[in-house]
Amino acid sequence: MPAKIIDGKAIALEIREQVKQSVLERIGNGQRAPGLAVILVGENPASQVYVRKKKEACVEAGIVSKAFDLPADTSETELLSLIEQLNDDHEIDGILVQLPLPEHIDSTTVLETIHPDKDVDGFHPYNIGRLAQRMPSLRPCTPHGVIYMLNTIGETYKGRHAVIVGASNIVGRPMGLELLLAGATVTTCHRFTHDLAEHVARADILVVAVGKPGIVKGEWVKPGATVIDVGINRTEAGKLIGDLDFEAAAQRAAYITPVPGGVGPMTVAMLLRNTLQASNKHC
Ligand code: GUN
Repeated sequence: MPAKIIDGKAIALEIREQVKQSVLERIGNGQRAPGLAVILVGENPASQVYVRKKKEACVEAGIVSKAFDLPADTSETELLSLIEQLNDDHEIDGILVQLPLPEHIDSTTVLETIHPDKDVDGFHPYNIGRLAQRMPSLRPCTPHGVIYMLNTIGETYKGRHAVIVGASNIVGRPMGLELLLAGATVTTCHRFTHDLAEHVARADILVVAVGKPGIVKGEWVKPGATVIDVGINRTEAGKLIGDLDFEAAAQRAAYITPVPGGVGPMTVAMLLRNTLQASNKHC
């Protein structure tokens, strides 16, 4: 039986509409619109696309986005001083530094310089620590978006085995924390994992977030599993594809996300929610 498709685009649009209404309410109460600073260093084409989508979504939701497009040779000191300035700016509620950064800039230092209350990506160790200790505050957008999608289809977590493929700071690791918080039994697979196929075959909930097309074969998927593909890869022909072999996986899964139109739009929607959340803390 082919899987039901989880329509991330539609779910994300609903969230964006909710954020827009809340922003209107804020303004109706005499408060200013939430403000998001979006920093892009260099000219990575994929990052330029992501940043453009984030800025457009802000405008549509009534969030003021302030763009900082910096040259690739910006020094770490210059970037840190911009972030410190934005930390002190009372009209800015959220600061987003698009990753990856050029190699001469240490992203850990940069992310730790963002004030945790303005860390709308949820990457600061303070926010990751809160998630790890079951007291989430600002949550990483992609993993939180995945949980939101799973809740939408009525996923039950308790007693279910969640397998994550990929252990990045942005997705895999916080995804494990989110699924643990939700009550699942969690396995995280990474580059040193032996027998990936065996782990995948035991997943009731499978999240693949590696960035390598075909890393997980559709035939490995457990019949009836919920499958979430976080990968966004561009083929030589310019087509967007995920990390999973979609057609084969869809023959076995109960639910599956498409690429594009699955997790990607959820990341943007959760960023807007985080910016609203941060603004409500700052008023
Ligand atoms: N690069 C890839 N994904 C993300 C994300 O969610 N946030 C930021 N800031 N950079 C990214």
